[in-house]
Amino acid sequence: MRDRQIVILTGAGISKESGLATFRDADGIWATVRIEDVATPDAFARDPVRVHAFYNARRARLASGDVKPNAAHFSLARLESEWPGEVLVVTQNIDDLHERAGSRNVVHMHGELLKARCQTCGDVVPWRDDLGVGLTCSACGVAGGMRPHVVWFGEMPFDMERIDAALDRCALFVSIGTSGAVYPAAGFVQQVRHRGRAHTAELNMQPSEGATLFAEARYGPATQVVPAYVEKILGAGW
Ligand code: APR
Repeated sequence: MRDRQIVILTGAGISKESGLATFRDADGIWATVRIEDVATPDAFARDPVRVHAFYNARRARLASGDVKPNAAHFSLARLESEWPGEVLVVTQNIDDLHERAGSRNVVHMHGELLKARCQTCGDVVPWRDDLGVGLTCSACGVAGGMRPHVVWFGEMPFDMERIDAALDRCALFVSIGTSGAVYPAAGFVQQVRHRGRAHTAELNMQPSEGATLFAEARYGPATQVVPAYVEKILGAGW
């Protein structure tokens, strides 16, 4: 039991108590702005200034230092350091709060807000300032093609082969702070169940769209339910 691998999927709910908005809660991001206007390749081609402004505001908030990891992020970092087997955090979030809490084994399947990518050569660079249409790529020298290194609707998430391999071999799959509304992440629990050996748990404020697919569930704020569940895993396993 103690050297088995764990995959943790996280969504916007784990960062809510750090002060970052979720997407589909009543006060979420998609209640104030349309996905079609800021989070698709067409939106960027049509109005790059508006898309840059949307991400610049979120990047500035994250880079300001006002937003800090919370007890849920820190408890997952503790799990990674104390569990004898591999612990992989697969996050849908584009913030860096898992890393700032101490998690090292993290996959950002929807990209990272603090990175920029050149559409011409594909070069990816750390980026904490505003992005704009006039910027020149430091790798290829082409101007005007720098975009947020985030995955928009209609684009392929990153690192899917690594994620699929981890899902296929894990003994425990835990989903935290996600509504289960967006694929492929929403389908991970089915993929794990299909193999039949792993235990599955959902830790969320409320039942997600896939709630009935999980063998175990604990509902409440992530800063309460996640540390308690990590304590349970490190104490008696699952
Ligand atoms: N603790 C735990 N869960 C919470 C908390 C909290 N404090 N606050 C909210 N939640 C839960 C909500 O109940 C909801 O189920 O977190 C979930 C957030 O769901 P969404 O807002 O849909 O965010 P997420 O599931 O991460 O969205 C997936 O959709 O828009 C795209 O790319 C975006 O990565 C995002 C993806």
